[in-house]
Amino acid sequence: MIIAVDGPAASGKGTLARRIASHLHYAYLDTGKIYRAVGHAVLGAGGDPEDLDAALAAARALNAADLANSELASDIAAVAASKVAALEPVRAVLLGFQKDFAASPPCGLGGAVLDGRDIGTVVCPDAEVKLFVTADVEVRARRRHKELLDKGEASIYPRVLKALKDRDARDSNRSAAPLIAAADAIVVDTTAMDPDEAFASAFGYIQKHTD
Ligand code: CDP
Repeated sequence: MIIAVDGPAASGKGTLARRIASHLHYAYLDTGKIYRAVGHAVLGAGGDPEDLDAALAAARALNAADLANSELASDIAAVAASKVAALEPVRAVLLGFQKDFAASPPCGLGGAVLDGRDIGTVVCPDAEVKLFVTADVEVRARRRHKELLDKGEASIYPRVLKALKDRDARDSNRSAAPLIAAADAIVVDTTAMDPDEAFASAFGYIQKHTD
Protein backbone atom coordinates (compact mmCIF):
# COMPACT_ATOMS: atom_id res chain seq x y z
CA MET A 1 0.00 0.00 0.00
CA ILE A 2 1.45 3.36 -1.07
CA ILE A 3 0.06 6.74 -0.03
CA ALA A 4 1.31 9.74 -2.02
CA VAL A 5 1.04 13.17 -0.42
CA ASP A 6 1.94 16.18 -2.56
CA GLY A 7 1.49 19.91 -2.21
CA PRO A 8 3.16 23.31 -1.97
CA ALA A 9 5.43 24.55 0.83
CA ALA A 10 3.95 24.80 4.34
CA SER A 11 0.61 23.36 3.23
CA GLY A 12 0.62 20.91 6.14
CA LYS A 13 1.47 17.91 3.95
CA GLY A 14 4.43 16.80 6.10
CA THR A 15 2.45 16.88 9.34
CA LEU A 16 -0.42 15.04 7.67
CA ALA A 17 1.79 12.42 5.98
CA ARG A 18 3.67 11.71 9.21
CA ARG A 19 0.42 11.26 11.14
CA ILE A 20 -1.06 8.93 8.54
CA ALA A 21 2.13 6.83 8.53
CA SER A 22 2.26 6.61 12.31
CA HIS A 23 -1.46 5.73 12.53
CA LEU A 24 -1.18 2.94 9.96
CA HIS A 25 2.32 1.79 11.08
CA TYR A 26 3.68 2.52 7.62
CA ALA A 27 7.12 3.78 6.70
CA TYR A 28 7.41 7.52 6.06
CA LEU A 29 9.69 9.37 3.65
CA ASP A 30 9.92 13.17 3.49
CA THR A 31 11.29 13.45 -0.07
CA GLY A 32 11.83 17.21 0.37
CA LYS A 33 14.71 16.32 2.68
CA ILE A 34 16.49 14.58 -0.19
CA TYR A 35 16.43 17.76 -2.28
CA ARG A 36 17.30 19.86 0.76
CA ALA A 37 20.31 17.61 1.46
CA VAL A 38 21.55 18.00 -2.12
CA GLY A 39 21.07 21.78 -2.07
CA HIS A 40 22.75 22.02 1.34
CA ALA A 41 25.73 19.93 0.16
CA VAL A 42 26.23 22.17 -2.88
CA LEU A 43 26.19 25.29 -0.68
CA GLY A 44 28.54 23.62 1.80
CA ALA A 45 31.04 22.96 -0.99
CA GLY A 46 30.85 26.63 -1.99
CA GLY A 47 28.91 25.84 -5.19
CA ASP A 48 25.83 27.29 -6.89
CA PRO A 49 22.67 25.10 -6.61
CA GLU A 50 21.73 26.09 -10.17
CA ASP A 51 25.00 24.66 -11.50
CA LEU A 52 24.16 21.27 -12.99
CA ASP A 53 27.61 19.69 -12.50
CA ALA A 54 27.77 20.70 -8.83
CA ALA A 55 24.21 19.57 -8.12
CA LEU A 56 24.66 16.29 -9.94
CA ALA A 57 27.87 15.49 -8.04
CA ALA A 58 26.08 16.20 -4.74
CA ALA A 59 23.09 14.05 -5.74
CA ARG A 60 25.36 11.14 -6.67
CA ALA A 61 27.29 11.41 -3.38
CA LEU A 62 24.16 11.57 -1.20
CA ASN A 63 23.65 8.88 1.44
CA ALA A 64 20.82 8.18 3.88
CA ALA A 65 22.73 9.57 6.89
CA ASP A 66 22.80 13.04 5.23
CA LEU A 67 19.02 13.28 5.66
CA ALA A 68 19.34 13.50 9.46
CA ASN A 69 21.11 16.90 9.39
CA SER A 70 19.03 19.46 11.37
CA GLU A 71 20.34 22.29 9.15
CA LEU A 72 18.12 20.96 6.35
CA ALA A 73 15.13 22.65 8.03
CA SER A 74 16.44 26.14 7.22
CA ASP A 75 14.92 28.38 4.57
CA ILE A 76 18.36 28.65 2.96
CA ALA A 77 18.31 24.88 2.42
CA ALA A 78 14.72 25.13 1.08
CA VAL A 79 15.68 27.68 -1.56
CA ALA A 80 18.75 25.66 -2.59
CA ALA A 81 16.52 22.54 -2.71
CA SER A 82 14.08 24.12 -5.12
CA LYS A 83 16.99 25.14 -7.38
CA VAL A 84 18.61 21.68 -7.58
CA ALA A 85 15.11 20.16 -7.87
CA ALA A 86 14.48 22.01 -11.12
CA LEU A 87 17.35 20.11 -12.80
CA GLU A 88 16.03 16.99 -14.55
CA PRO A 89 19.28 14.92 -14.35
CA VAL A 90 19.40 15.55 -10.58
CA ARG A 91 15.83 14.30 -10.21
CA ALA A 92 16.68 11.22 -12.29
CA VAL A 93 19.55 10.31 -9.91
CA LEU A 94 17.25 10.66 -6.85
CA LEU A 95 14.29 8.77 -8.31
CA GLY A 96 15.54 5.22 -7.73
CA PHE A 97 15.95 5.65 -3.96
CA GLN A 98 12.39 7.00 -3.64
CA LYS A 99 10.87 4.24 -5.80
CA ASP A 100 12.76 1.54 -3.87
CA PHE A 101 11.56 2.98 -0.55
CA ALA A 102 7.94 2.86 -1.75
CA ALA A 103 8.22 -0.62 -3.26
CA SER A 104 10.06 -2.17 -0.27
CA PRO A 105 9.39 -0.11 2.86
CA PRO A 106 12.12 -0.55 5.50
CA CYS A 107 11.67 -2.98 8.42
CA GLY A 108 9.14 -5.02 6.45
CA LEU A 109 6.37 -2.50 7.15
CA GLY A 110 3.15 -3.07 5.19
CA GLY A 111 3.07 0.25 3.40
CA ALA A 112 4.72 3.58 2.78
CA VAL A 113 3.69 7.22 2.90
CA LEU A 114 5.83 9.57 0.81
CA ASP A 115 5.41 13.33 0.72
CA GLY A 116 6.77 15.79 -1.81
CA ARG A 117 5.85 17.50 -5.06
CA ASP A 118 5.77 14.69 -7.65
CA ILE A 119 4.97 11.54 -5.69
CA GLY A 120 1.53 10.95 -7.24
CA THR A 121 2.65 12.00 -10.71
CA VAL A 122 6.21 10.64 -11.16
CA VAL A 123 7.60 8.65 -8.20
CA CYS A 124 4.52 6.50 -7.47
CA PRO A 125 2.00 7.01 -10.28
CA ASP A 126 0.29 3.75 -9.21
CA ALA A 127 -0.13 4.73 -5.53
CA GLU A 128 -3.41 3.43 -4.10
CA VAL A 129 -4.11 6.78 -2.41
CA LYS A 130 -3.08 10.24 -3.64
CA LEU A 131 -3.63 13.37 -1.60
CA PHE A 132 -2.88 16.90 -2.78
CA VAL A 133 -2.60 19.13 0.28
CA THR A 134 -2.87 22.86 -0.23
CA ALA A 135 -3.82 26.13 1.51
CA ASP A 136 -3.95 29.84 0.68
CA VAL A 137 -0.46 31.25 0.32
CA GLU A 138 -0.95 33.87 3.09
CA VAL A 139 -2.03 31.16 5.52
CA ARG A 140 0.97 29.02 4.56
CA ALA A 141 3.32 31.98 5.01
CA ARG A 142 1.87 32.73 8.46
CA ARG A 143 2.42 29.09 9.46
CA ARG A 144 6.04 29.10 8.26
CA HIS A 145 6.64 32.48 9.97
CA LYS A 146 5.29 31.12 13.27
CA GLU A 147 7.35 27.93 12.92
CA LEU A 148 10.55 29.99 12.51
CA LEU A 149 9.70 32.27 15.46
CA ASP A 150 8.86 29.23 17.62
CA LYS A 151 12.30 27.82 16.80
CA GLY A 152 13.84 31.08 18.02
CA GLU A 153 14.88 32.17 14.51
CA ALA A 154 14.52 35.72 13.21
CA SER A 155 11.63 35.96 10.74
CA ILE A 156 9.94 38.82 8.91
CA TYR A 157 6.48 37.93 7.60
CA PRO A 158 6.61 39.81 4.25
CA ARG A 159 9.94 38.13 3.47
CA VAL A 160 8.57 34.69 4.33
CA LEU A 161 5.55 35.36 2.08
CA LYS A 162 7.76 36.43 -0.82
CA ALA A 163 10.10 33.45 -0.38
CA LEU A 164 7.15 31.04 -0.44
CA LYS A 165 5.68 32.66 -3.55
CA ASP A 166 9.06 32.51 -5.31
CA ARG A 167 9.52 28.84 -4.38
CA ASP A 168 5.94 27.94 -5.41
CA ALA A 169 6.56 29.62 -8.77
CA ARG A 170 9.88 27.80 -9.28
CA ASP A 171 8.31 24.43 -8.31
CA SER A 172 5.19 24.93 -10.44
CA ASN A 173 6.78 26.40 -13.57
CA ARG A 174 9.75 24.04 -13.99
CA SER A 175 9.58 21.54 -16.84
CA ALA A 176 10.93 18.62 -14.75
CA ALA A 177 8.17 17.07 -12.60
CA PRO A 178 6.37 20.35 -11.82
CA LEU A 179 4.20 20.69 -8.73
CA ILE A 180 0.75 19.65 -9.93
CA ALA A 181 -2.06 17.53 -8.50
CA ALA A 182 -2.29 14.08 -10.11
CA ALA A 183 -5.56 13.68 -12.02
CA ASP A 184 -6.65 11.01 -9.52
CA ALA A 185 -5.59 12.89 -6.36
CA ILE A 186 -8.10 14.28 -3.89
CA VAL A 187 -7.47 17.83 -2.75
CA VAL A 188 -7.25 18.54 0.99
CA ASP A 189 -7.46 22.32 1.45
CA THR A 190 -6.13 23.03 4.94
CA THR A 191 -6.68 26.82 4.82
CA ALA A 192 -9.34 26.64 7.53
CA MET A 193 -8.25 23.36 9.13
CA ASP A 194 -6.01 22.60 12.07
CA PRO A 195 -3.82 19.47 11.93
CA ASP A 196 -6.49 17.31 13.65
CA GLU A 197 -9.16 18.38 11.15
CA ALA A 198 -6.83 17.78 8.19
CA PHE A 199 -6.02 14.31 9.52
CA ALA A 200 -9.71 13.47 10.10
CA SER A 201 -10.62 14.59 6.58
CA ALA A 202 -7.76 12.72 4.88
CA PHE A 203 -8.09 9.60 6.98
CA GLY A 204 -11.84 9.40 6.33
CA TYR A 205 -11.08 9.44 2.63
CA ILE A 206 -8.34 6.80 2.95
CA GLN A 207 -10.65 4.45 4.84
CA LYS A 208 -13.46 4.82 2.30
CA HIS A 209 -11.12 4.52 -0.63
CA THR A 210 -9.26 1.41 0.56
CA ASP A 211 -12.19 -0.57 1.99
O1 CDP B 1 8.69 21.63 3.76
P1 CDP B 1 8.40 22.37 2.49
O2 CDP B 1 7.08 22.01 1.90
O3 CDP B 1 8.64 23.84 2.60
O4 CDP B 1 9.52 21.90 1.44
P2 CDP B 1 10.07 20.45 1.16
O5 CDP B 1 8.95 19.46 0.99
O6 CDP B 1 11.12 20.11 2.16
O7 CDP B 1 10.77 20.62 -0.29
C1 CDP B 1 11.83 21.52 -0.52
C2 CDP B 1 11.97 21.71 -2.02
O8 CDP B 1 12.37 20.46 -2.61
C3 CDP B 1 10.67 22.08 -2.74
O9 CDP B 1 10.46 23.48 -2.80
C4 CDP B 1 10.86 21.46 -4.12
O10 CDP B 1 11.54 22.33 -5.00
C5 CDP B 1 11.76 20.26 -3.89
N1 CDP B 1 11.03 18.97 -3.93
C6 CDP B 1 10.77 18.43 -5.17
O11 CDP B 1 11.04 19.03 -6.19
N2 CDP B 1 10.18 17.21 -5.26
C7 CDP B 1 9.85 16.53 -4.17
N3 CDP B 1 9.28 15.32 -4.29
C8 CDP B 1 10.08 17.09 -2.88
C9 CDP B 1 10.67 18.32 -2.79
